[in-house]
Amino acid sequence: MTIPDTIAIDGPAASGKTTLACNLARELNFICLDTGIMYRAVTCVVLKKKVDPLDEQGVTRLAQEMQIEIAAPTLADGRAFDFLVNGEDITGELRKPEVEAYVSQVSAYPGVRQAMTRQQRRIGQRGKIIMVGRDIGTVVMPDADLKIYLVASLEERTRRRYEERIQHGEEVSLDEVRRGLERRDQIDSTRQAAPLKPADDAVVIDSDGLSIEEVLSAARKLIR
Ligand code: DC
Repeated sequence: MTIPDTIAIDGPAASGKTTLACNLARELNFICLDTGIMYRAVTCVVLKKKVDPLDEQGVTRLAQEMQIEIAAPTLADGRAFDFLVNGEDITGELRKPEVEAYVSQVSAYPGVRQAMTRQQRRIGQRGKIIMVGRDIGTVVMPDADLKIYLVASLEERTRRRYEERIQHGEEVSLDEVRRGLERRDQIDSTRQAAPLKPADDAVVIDSDGLSIEEVLSAARKLIR
């Protein structure tokens, strides 16, 4: 029995991609690369350096100069890895609301995408990898052995992301979370460069009403 060597998982925000990918990677002993954190890292550095997120040239220059490293976790705060940019550990900052607010804008710039795509392809070449994002099956790894496009209704995604943020101690309302997701869906799927969409040969899994285990089991059937 042969199993796929490269797996692409795409889909909108909070559709459960990372949970599925991490679980599968553990079972298969594969690397899991969540490419969303790379765009989050660019956004984080942009905000830290006080570059205007609307300044496409300035943001692109920063993205091109960024040295990204993903290393084994050094803190036991629930993180799966240490994410270093130019040697600085910014893992704890990647999910902050201000990063969330600008990440779709920053990731829509073609120059930023080019810089990140180059790094993602380099990592993907090693094989035994599950890569998660918006354009993995269409642009980053168009030859991936298996492509999954994970969807869930806006209501379901809002509920999941709301619970996640409350668990992290944030004060946020359901309505705010819903509006944030809608805004990101809109930017991610209508941008010119590598918009969010399923590859022609992707298998769509709708996770509405399915437990984590049920989604995992649907993916396992595609793999074996
Ligand atoms: O999956 P996430 O929420 O961490 O992604 C953050 C943002 O990064 C998302 O709004 C769109 C962008 N992104 C992208 O454009 N391409 C990818 N391959 C991954 C993420």
